[in-house]
Amino acid sequence: MKTPLYSIGILRTPLPRTGKWVALALLSIMAHGEASACDACNVVFGRELQSERAGSLAAADLQAAAQNQSGLPLDGLGSGAFKFDGVSASNPPIQDAEAIADSAEVTMVGEVPMPVVTPASRWAPTVAPGNKPYDTVPEEWKDDPNIEIIERDYNLPIPATSYVPQSTKPDKSFTIELAEGKVYIGNGVVYDGFVTNGTIPGPMIIVDEGDIVAFTVVNKGTIPHGASIHAAYTQTSKYLGKIGPGESRRVVFRVTQPGVYLYHCAPGGHAIPMHVLFGQYGMMVVKPKKEPYLMDKVMGKAPDLELYLVQHEYYASGKDAIEGNALYTTFNGKLFRYVEDPIKVRPGDFVRIYFLNVGPNLLSTFHIVGITWDYVYWQGHPKAAWPGGQSVTAGPTDSWVMDFRIPPDEGAYTMLSHAVGSTARGAIGLLVASNDAETPAEVSSQGIAYDNAEMESILAKATRVISPFKPTNYDAVARYAPGTKEVTVSIIGNSYWPKVIEIEPGTTVTWINEDAFTYLAGEFAGIHNAMSMGGELEPFSTPLLAHAESASHRFDEVGEYEYMCAPHPYMIGKIIIKESVIQATDASGKSSGMDTGWLLPLAAGAFVVALLSLYRSQRYSTNPNS
Ligand code: CU
Ligand code: CU
Repeated sequence: MKTPLYSIGILRTPLPRTGKWVALALLSIMAHGEASACDACNVVFGRELQSERAGSLAAADLQAAAQNQSGLPLDGLGSGAFKFDGVSASNPPIQDAEAIADSAEVTMVGEVPMPVVTPASRWAPTVAPGNKPYDTVPEEWKDDPNIEIIERDYNLPIPATSYVPQSTKPDKSFTIELAEGKVYIGNGVVYDGFVTNGTIPGPMIIVDEGDIVAFTVVNKGTIPHGASIHAAYTQTSKYLGKIGPGESRRVVFRVTQPGVYLYHCAPGGHAIPMHVLFGQYGMMVVKPKKEPYLMDKVMGKAPDLELYLVQHEYYASGKDAIEGNALYTTFNGKLFRYVEDPIKVRPGDFVRIYFLNVGPNLLSTFHIVGITWDYVYWQGHPKAAWPGGQSVTAGPTDSWVMDFRIPPDEGAYTMLSHAVGSTARGAIGLLVASNDAETPAEVSSQGIAYDNAEMESILAKATRVISPFKPTNYDAVARYAPGTKEVTVSIIGNSYWPKVIEIEPGTTVTWINEDAFTYLAGEFAGIHNAMSMGGELEPFSTPLLAHAESASHRFDEVGEYEYMCAPHPYMIGKIIIKESVIQATDASGKSSGMDTGWLLPLAAGAFVVALLSLYRSQRYSTNPNS
């Protein structure tokens, strides 16, 4: 076999057979373009299930799933990933990858591209005039194979489902663009994750009860994305699940239940929670048409201000995301957005808040200091009206509409989640009432968009960048006691934990896969590995790991590695291998290396300095003029 000219040089070293397959799969990824990344790894893993892993419990479970799912309409969930009897059309045969390894000139770059997304031009629905909602079954639907069910539903005393034939002409059309990208979230912090139209939350979508809606999803990223639309009371997975890079898909449905809804990325299986945790979501409101909100009747008018508010979280690692340890909690994308830029109202204004707690993990108890509600409507449905109350309780994806009046007094009304850990992390804003204010008619829930030039300038000044799946200046280097020769790295939430480790030469690193969701492969299942991304050191690659499986590699050379996951190329980890400054002590307690006798006087000196500075700061704080 000819030596291929790729800098990663992974096949130059003897690898476990499965590790070599992963390397081959990656070559296939590079040669075929990003679109085939997941599919190539699916092929590798599917083959392993029938060879090395045959007889394992994981193989038995996944084979049972493949059999039980066989023939079911599971399009969009990536269910066809693990073929046990050959390679499907969408999964390129592994022979391709071998051929590429033999012949190709491929240059592996050290960094997986994570472009800053330029926001789309001002986003607006296109409305087809004169195409009114209807309550009778149109003549042209008569050929639908389920026409009897459709006719039954249109004759029930409750709204029909959202189903319409896909050829139906829409009243309103929307297009969202999904990609990986960065957003500025305030307080000097940039978030590097996944975005919708370049923002978090994505665009706000407003429709009227009864509208026929065409929802188009364009994948502008380098990995599969997709969409789930909670306002649609019909099948959407098969139309919008798992959309490859550069592809776009569309679904047409009728909105039949007024309310406040979530839409989010949903590329199938394990990737659905991942892409929600990483930031791809937005608010969709179906405004009531048949019956208005009670408060409109009471007040005899529409609200003076309609405030669309999404509460959501940012995570700095996959582990934190899975465990619900939010680093920040915000309203509409930016920390303290409406403290920085208060929403101005007049005393006496009739205010309506459309509130959605995206989560994805935390509970919100939304409250406004100085306000009790006139009416709240559960999930925003006008018939689900309750009077009074101080707060609304919303778990992840729960929503409310709240109606109230600004009292006849000037001053600030503070909006917050009264689960006050979230308040302190950014979920707080101000409604400020003054008699000369010009109340805005609407405040959108969409996050703030930045173009490439603006983002570059923000990045140059940012004090912190956070990312759930790759190391940033926020991530501390994990160091171990001198002499540690065994280190474990968890793989959880499509992220390595710790993301950056510093070890001594001769240390064995074991990666263990803590992601449990291997079914419905989606963007790609919760199957991971670790493989070096080039550089001067000897390359390494582990096999693909199913849940609870682990693989180890011993590092003897001093230097640094960046490594990645073959199925999820945005997952990045780092290993620094260097000699420890402080040597391990031997069994007798004596230092086996460097003399540490100098440490005691140094510590004593530091103690004296600390005492002195404490004394000085005490003086200044009690008498600032001295
Ligand atoms: Cu996505
Ligand atoms: Cu992975």
